[in-house]
Amino acid sequence: MLDDRLPLNARTFTDERVSPSESFVEQANVTADDLSAFSGREGWKRAAAFLDWEEEFDRVFEESSGEFFAGGKLNAAANCLDRHLDERKNQRALVWEGQRGECRTYTYLELFREVNAVAAGLRSLGVGQGDAVTLYMPVVPELPVTMLACARLGAPHVVVFAGFSAEALATRMREAESAVLVTCDGYYRRGDAVSLRNRAETACVSLPDDVTTVVVDHLGTATETPERNSHRYNRLRETHAGERVDPVVRESAEELFYIYTSGTTGTPKRVTHTTGGYLSHAAWTSHAVLDIKPADTYWCPADIGWITGHTYVVYGPLALGTTVLLSEAGIDGLSRTKPWELIERHAVDIFYTSPTAVRTFVKAGSEYPDSFDLSSLRLLGTVGEPINLRAWRWLYEHVGGERCPVVDTWWQTETGGHLITTVPGVHEMKPGSAGVPLPGIEAAVLDRDGRPAEAGSGGYLVITEPWPGMARELSRGERWAARDDEAVPDLSAFEWAYPTEDGAVVDETGYITVLGRVDDVLNVSGHRFGTMELESAIVDIEGVAEAAVVDAVREGQRVMDAYVSLTDDATETEMMRETIFDTIEGTIGEFARPARVVFTPELPKTSSGKIVRRVLTDVGSGEEVSDTSAVANPEVVGEIRSSLNIE
Ligand code: WTA
Repeated sequence: MLDDRLPLNARTFTDERVSPSESFVEQANVTADDLSAFSGREGWKRAAAFLDWEEEFDRVFEESSGEFFAGGKLNAAANCLDRHLDERKNQRALVWEGQRGECRTYTYLELFREVNAVAAGLRSLGVGQGDAVTLYMPVVPELPVTMLACARLGAPHVVVFAGFSAEALATRMREAESAVLVTCDGYYRRGDAVSLRNRAETACVSLPDDVTTVVVDHLGTATETPERNSHRYNRLRETHAGERVDPVVRESAEELFYIYTSGTTGTPKRVTHTTGGYLSHAAWTSHAVLDIKPADTYWCPADIGWITGHTYVVYGPLALGTTVLLSEAGIDGLSRTKPWELIERHAVDIFYTSPTAVRTFVKAGSEYPDSFDLSSLRLLGTVGEPINLRAWRWLYEHVGGERCPVVDTWWQTETGGHLITTVPGVHEMKPGSAGVPLPGIEAAVLDRDGRPAEAGSGGYLVITEPWPGMARELSRGERWAARDDEAVPDLSAFEWAYPTEDGAVVDETGYITVLGRVDDVLNVSGHRFGTMELESAIVDIEGVAEAAVVDAVREGQRVMDAYVSLTDDATETEMMRETIFDTIEGTIGEFARPARVVFTPELPKTSSGKIVRRVLTDVGSGEEVSDTSAVANPEVVGEIRSSLNIE
């Protein structure tokens, strides 16, 4: 039942509207007229016009193949670098702040040279068009440099978030058939050195073929490596310094990168983003939604390992020729004052962050932003989860000084870039609601039978027209129409449709409030987890009979809990609990560690044996369990409550 899945109880709504300030509207990149000029599929030419094409495309959309800008040819790195050299070679492209107070900057010319040297280095190791190169690094400048070097060579990159375990890295490399890995010796995490090198080596030995590795010396601990297939990044780039690599011209629909994300199966799923469609979408939305201008300093603290980092740290902003601030420490690794200090010091114009981060700021207190000069800011944005009213208002007032619009951007790894949001110089904001579909995007909120849901009542969010940033895997619609599960409504009335697997509510004015996932994917602290992935890791442990991983809301933040029942011969010991934590860290990574592991003799189930997760979410959130009518064994609820010491 959809109603069971919609986390409506966790939300409050408002009809309040906030108009963008005049000072913002006057200078906005996109006006209401621009939006009305953009219509239908042909409108996407407007997005493609943000790029330089080696060969113009003949068709905006090729129905038979589902390709955007068919016939068009381009190179993504050339669009992010080469074409900017005439106008802004001495403008800063990247400003990087390290964990230990280091600061490195690269002008567009310097970045261009760096990328060429690394591309030449990779080429000397045999990397060519179509070869998947895995990148496993924290946010250091070498990461975007290597991404662009791969793009230059037409080699798809696979960036794996540095918090993933060796096993998770190996799974992705195996699936991508990647034989080259660029990693680094390690990084600091809350003051402790973490060795990435060891994890990378563990991953490589489990792979069937020899992997060529390139190691960035970030901590200064990389030693001369006698191994055959291992190279030092700095040596490689010095050897090839001054070399030029002609950008490999790619077809629009050819892959730019793969990124793995959590789906509803036990294994991570590959998402392929294309060169022309994806990059057009990234550049156009960076312009229209994030209002990026070349003279801006732009900061999005998302880790580059996730899609937000790909689209709105690297590709979109660099395609537009702006200055990008990179912070090695993610928002959760920064002190209470640091975000504001960085904004003041670098005179940041645009700050694009997550609701989780904003809630952390709220908790720390407004005295922190209030004591810095944040007047350089012009626009604020959030992504990743619904933003609650309180966090929205706080951001708008204390960070934006009621002068900066806030864009609440809804999108996904699969969508490549923004689909639903307000356009900041045009639309009124409705706090807590993402906004309206961007021009060219057709979105609908449907009931289970595929009919439009009534205004104000929950339904399934479905996109009914293709868009350029969509993952290549979505081009063929049959796959979705044929699906029969609770997360997908009846789509038979549509020729093509993409079920987002999010629940949403649309109001009378067309504003869409996204409620959260209706499938078995959890969004916790800006990370996306497949419950199946976590649960199958837990049930592999000897002594575990069953497991359910669910989310809960505690102290205003979304957390993840694991409920575990053991086999008769196993006992609920602290050691077992530690084994469960260690297993999750080992198979996925430390960032996936649940907040709690709760032992229970049974999991709440329907009479047909399906786990009723909503009950566990309610209990974990300290709420009354609203309805146990579907639960065949309601007595377990009381048992779980008592083991959690909830009366
Ligand atoms: C959620 C992140 C509400 C949603 C770019 C989606 C949001 C999932 C918003 C994708 C938003 C993202 N309001 N929910 N503005 N933005 N989401 O793939 O549930 O890591 O399906 O991509 O995040 O997460 P992903």
